[in-house]
Amino acid sequence: MRTVDLIHRKREGEELSPQEIAWLVEGYTRGEIPDYQMSAFLMAVYYSGMSDREVSTLTDCMVRSGETVDLSAIPGQKVDKHSTGGVGDKTSLISAPLAAAAGVVIPMISGRGLGHTGGTLDKLEAIPGFRTDLTVEEFRAQLAKLGLCFIGQSAQVAPADGKLYSLRDATATVESIPLIASSIMSKKIAEGLDALVLDVKVGSGAFMKRQVDARRLAQMMVGIGRRMDKRVQALITDMSQPLGYAIGNALEVMEVSQTLQSAGPNDLTRLSLELAARMIHLGKVTETIDEARELAQRKLLDGSGYRKFKEVIQAQGGNPNVLDRFDLLPNASGAREIASPRAGFVSQIKAEDIGLASSMIGAGRDTKEAAIDPAVGVILEVKVGEKVEAGAVLCRLYYTKEEHLEEAAQLVEDAFRISTHPPEERELILEVVG
Ligand code: URA
Repeated sequence: MRTVDLIHRKREGEELSPQEIAWLVEGYTRGEIPDYQMSAFLMAVYYSGMSDREVSTLTDCMVRSGETVDLSAIPGQKVDKHSTGGVGDKTSLISAPLAAAAGVVIPMISGRGLGHTGGTLDKLEAIPGFRTDLTVEEFRAQLAKLGLCFIGQSAQVAPADGKLYSLRDATATVESIPLIASSIMSKKIAEGLDALVLDVKVGSGAFMKRQVDARRLAQMMVGIGRRMDKRVQALITDMSQPLGYAIGNALEVMEVSQTLQSAGPNDLTRLSLELAARMIHLGKVTETIDEARELAQRKLLDGSGYRKFKEVIQAQGGNPNVLDRFDLLPNASGAREIASPRAGFVSQIKAEDIGLASSMIGAGRDTKEAAIDPAVGVILEVKVGEKVEAGAVLCRLYYTKEEHLEEAAQLVEDAFRISTHPPEERELILEVVG
């Protein structure tokens, strides 16, 4: 077999056999297939797509590139949640502690920022000392003790996803339904779970811009899960504007803290509670989804989700006091205000451009190896639908270096549309699949 022939056949839209896909994934994981050939293959998949059989095989090979964590010794249902990626999407850091406080065991393997979207691991690592590179043994021990642990893919768990994920980020091959589905499902299946709640984002800040594509992605992931005997449910949710007000790693941790103390933005709180409720219900803690919603709400109001997050931060080497004292988090040195050019209603805040601007000033990576700046990002002062006066502050860019600042500020300014009429309201949760 030759890699160049497989790239050629995929480019021409042919279906590859399970043996061919396995050969590619194994060769790439072992370092025998170079990045430039894998990049070309990913681009071929981006344009030609994959059949259901190819996606299932790809997922399975990615799972088998490492070990599948055996969590059978830990009592209770193991349930996880994963988002397909958005801007200001910090729901994992809220819904997981809430569901864990309700008794669900949550082995969470998360990703880093991808393209214009943020990543749970990068957000957690904004907390000084927080370790996401735990060994499988440490992961299991923390789960048994606290019912919640956050890690990333590693040399042990789904290493193929780790390599492909960063390669896709640097080769503009992220927005591909089969590549997203296999990336997410491989890490999730490798972590030994029983059930999974997916948040499939749609809109300008998501990889899927159209609801029909988001639905196809949701169905593909639910199908992969079912074929592997996992209970999977997907919510399709709006990502046309950023979620909450904060975009950027440390800034988002601050908003998580506020939300877990019942003082968070409305959209973020609502979605996090619904995701937590779905996790609680799939985790069989309650019989009905309504009971699960009540329980999630209670865990928010009585502060037990907040306390659970603090315990997890402490257990993973971080300083839990950051949730009360934001000065202990990395802080930006400069702020740039973006003002409204006219009076009117905020009718659009293009999430993708806000994410790109935030990434441009350091919150994301433009090469595989680039380091991110945890302190920087954007804080919105308004959301879609609000009335503003001319000159009112729409948002602030928090930065530590002037590099790319002007370009980012222009992008952010252009991301806002101010209209004379209020926009139509958009639903936050659009569909449930599975
Ligand atoms: N999240 C992932 O883990 N992988 C993707 O490809 C996109 C979002």
